[in-house]
Order: sequence, then structure tokens, then C-alpha cells
Amino acid sequence: MPRKIVKKIKKAVTKKSKSEMKVKELEPVMLQPPRGMKDILPGEQPYWEQVRRVTERLARDYGFSRIDTPVVEFNNLFNRSIGEGTDIIEKEMYSFATKGGDKVALRPEMTAGTCRAYIQHGLHLLPKPVKLFSTGPVYRYDRPQEGRYREFYQVNYDAFGEQDPVLDAQMIQVAYRVVQNLGIKSIQIQVNSIGCPTCRKEYKDLLVNYLESKKNKLCQDCKRRLETNPLRVLDCKEDKCSQVAAAAPQSVDHLCDDCRNHFKNLLEYLDELDLPYAINPQLVRGLDYYTKTVFEIWSGEEGGRKFSLGGGGRYDGLVKMLGGENTPAIGFGLGVERLILEMKRVQAKPYRAPKPRIFLAQLGDLAKKKSLKLFSELEKNGILVAESFGRGSLKAQLRVADKLGVELTLILGQKEALDRTVIIKNMASGVQEIVSVDKLVDVVKKKLKTDNVVTYHDNGNHNNHSENK
Ligand code: HAM
Repeated sequence: MPRKIVKKIKKAVTKKSKSEMKVKELEPVMLQPPRGMKDILPGEQPYWEQVRRVTERLARDYGFSRIDTPVVEFNNLFNRSIGEGTDIIEKEMYSFATKGGDKVALRPEMTAGTCRAYIQHGLHLLPKPVKLFSTGPVYRYDRPQEGRYREFYQVNYDAFGEQDPVLDAQMIQVAYRVVQNLGIKSIQIQVNSIGCPTCRKEYKDLLVNYLESKKNKLCQDCKRRLETNPLRVLDCKEDKCSQVAAAAPQSVDHLCDDCRNHFKNLLEYLDELDLPYAINPQLVRGLDYYTKTVFEIWSGEEGGRKFSLGGGGRYDGLVKMLGGENTPAIGFGLGVERLILEMKRVQAKPYRAPKPRIFLAQLGDLAKKKSLKLFSELEKNGILVAESFGRGSLKAQLRVADKLGVELTLILGQKEALDRTVIIKNMASGVQEIVSVDKLVDVVKKKLKTDNVVTYHDNGNHNNHSENK
């Protein structure tokens, strides 16, 4: 072989082994999600399903329409809405530049996106109040611990275009109903009014004067907050700051007439609704857009840590500030993981999916083919069926049926497949009967007592809908 070609081959081989080495050097794939994020496995889903059912049902009952907005929005939407001096904007946003150079962020909450969509799509033209329901993942780069994640799910209810405090009371009622319907009984509703921009300015000056006089007793974060966001000093969790906050001037004592009346009326409505609320003068919330009413729903764990299951308030200035019309608004968000933690703590029931009460067994190639179709026929008629098509032996299939605790087993063998019949076996008595395929749906429904047939979706082909509620 000419020396030139040999050299070429040698070069190619060396090149190949170098690239192979590169592959070997690749970092192993981490078999876990990033810190503060988690999978929601099938075993957990009954709790999530229960939250979905309860929250969607209450949204419907109280007249909310669903809205979905992107998880990613332009950065400045959040900066402007939530406020530059807040922990969320200063420390917790997942912000990044796209390949095209857009400055965007994963949403750290859902209100800003909802307001953006409300303005952009002219939703103000709808009859007021415009009630919107949204749910999905939210991202905050906080220090993870129990009940605090970097990716978590929220359910939000927001209403636009009504300033009457009767709506504030109804929103608090919705939040209470969600938690109550999930089986969480012992909760506390914390309410406060932080006034409008006019009366809050005066109150802020008073508060800053007071806090300045106690500055040496505040934690480092609060010393900084004193400059950037003095109201936030009031809900600092540090003991020494709580002591300072307890003696601080209270916003409710410095409201203008309009805000005072609003708050007074709200409390009257809450009394009328018999809701278990407490006025909490230290409740200010961690987002800057709130005006007048603010509230939180706390889990009532005695002696232990109190979680905020949800919170919200009025944000009468936000839509205008983002470029829309002057629009009063109020809303709240609930943390799904926290609701589930609390459900588990109080042993509230998760959703129980309907179980099949019928098993379809088959024997032989033709029967297997026919069973596939028969299964679909039963499904179309809303009858929930279990099967184990991969198994050949009837004995093995009947064992599965037994394990599942079904009431009837339908058996399709070679003879039945040819005769267009099915054997129905009553699992309790062992009695068997032969039924024509054409009559099967009717006979099965009758046997399971029509009203109790477990149907799991409504496709218009059947009338029964009896899943657990
Ligand atoms: P938020 O109080 O920041 O309000 O969040 C609402 C709820 O989300 C909290 O009460 C809590 O249950 C849950 N949550 C917050 N951070 C975490 C976390 N790191 N891990 C797990 N759960 C968490 C808002 O987001 C407002 N946008 C609510 C609202 C809607 N206001 C008006 N409309």
C-alpha cells in the first residue's frame, strides 16, 4: 500500500479514537430533577386529582372561566407588577435571555400573566366582574424545605372590574370552600387592609419613623427592607423583628375614609358568612401590587409551624399600571403541594378512581382479536372493564380477575368467538350463562344494576355517570 494512504488511514483511526474518548468523558446523566423540583408519581396522583376536581368544580360554581397563560413571560412584566424591592424579584426569579436575546423569566406567580392577557385580549369587554381561574406550575429560586419548592403548583382565582367589598368577601369564601371541600377543617383566615396608595403613603412614613427608631433591633434583611420595602419588615419571621412589628403602628388605624369603609363592610360580610377570620395587622403580603384587602389562609396545626396554604388580596392599580384601563381587581392563589401536605396531615381523603367491576378474559387467537373489539364496545358504552390480553391461560386471567375483586368475568373462547356469544361468570356464585354479543351491553348493565354501572366519561353514548364525588 502506498505510504501516503497508510498515513491517511492512521490519521483517521487516531481521529476516531479521540472522538470516542470524548464520548467516554461525558458526564453521567443525573437521575434526578434539579433541587427543589420533583416528579409527581402515579401513587401521588389521587391527591392531585382531588385538588383538581374540587378547585375546578368551585371555579365553575362561582362563575369563573379558565385561562391559561405561558409559563414564560417578559421579565419586566414581573418586575413592574411584583415590585423591584420584593424577595421574589430580588432573589427568586428564574430569569434568562433567549437565543434571540429576549429577556424572559419563568413565572414566579400567575397574576401578572393573567393581567397581561386581560389587557391584551380586551377581556374588559366581557360582563363584569370578569372571573378567571388558572392553574399550573410556578417557579421561585428559594431555599427548598418542607412545603417550599422551586417548582410548585398554584391554583388562582381572580376577578376583574368590581370594587364592592362584597366581592372581597366572596373571594375569601371561595378560598375557604376549596380548603373545606378538600377535607381540611381546622384553618384560619387572616385579613388586613393595607389601604390605597394615598393613605398608605402617610402610613408608610409613620412606619418608617417608628422602624428607624428600632433599627438596631432589626435583622440585617429588615435593615435593608427599611429602605426598599418597609412594610415587609412587619411579616419578617425573625423573633426580634416580630417583637418590633408587634408594637408598630397598624395600617388599619391609618386608612382613608374610603378604605376604612371598604374594610368595615368586608368584615360585616365575613361575619354574615360565618367565616373564621382574624384581623392580622402584620399581614402585608410579599408582592407590591396589593391595595386595601389582603388575606391568607393558614393551616391550623396546633403548636406547630403554620403554613400559608394560600393568599391574595385586591390589586386595584395593577391593570392600569400595566397599560390597561382603570380596573379594580381581586384574587388569590393556593399552593397545591401545601394543600396536599395538609390533606395528608389531617388524613383527608384523596380521590378514589372508579374500579372496574368486570373482567374480560379470552382464550385462543380468534377470541383475543374479538376481545380487543369487545373491550372497545364496552368502553364506548361507559362500562369500565379490566383485562389481561397478554396472558394466554384462562386460569391466569381468572386469577387476575379475582385479585381485582370484579363481580363479573366475561369469557370469550374459540367457540364463543365463532358463535358471537360470551360467557358471563358471576365471580361470587360461580354461576355462568351464555349471552349473545349483541345483547351483552344491556345484560351487563342490568346485572350491575344500571344505576351503579361505573362509567368514567360522558361521550353521549350512555346515561349513567356514577363516579365517586
Ligand atoms: P403567594 O402568597 O406568593 O401569592 O403564593 C400563593 C401560595 O402559593 C402560597 O400561599 C403558598 O401556598 C404557595 N407557595 C408560595 N411559594 C411557594 C413555594 N416556594 N413552594 C410551595 N408553595 C408555595 C401569589 O402568588 C399571588 N399571585 C396570589 C394572587 C392571585 N394574588 C392575587 N391573585
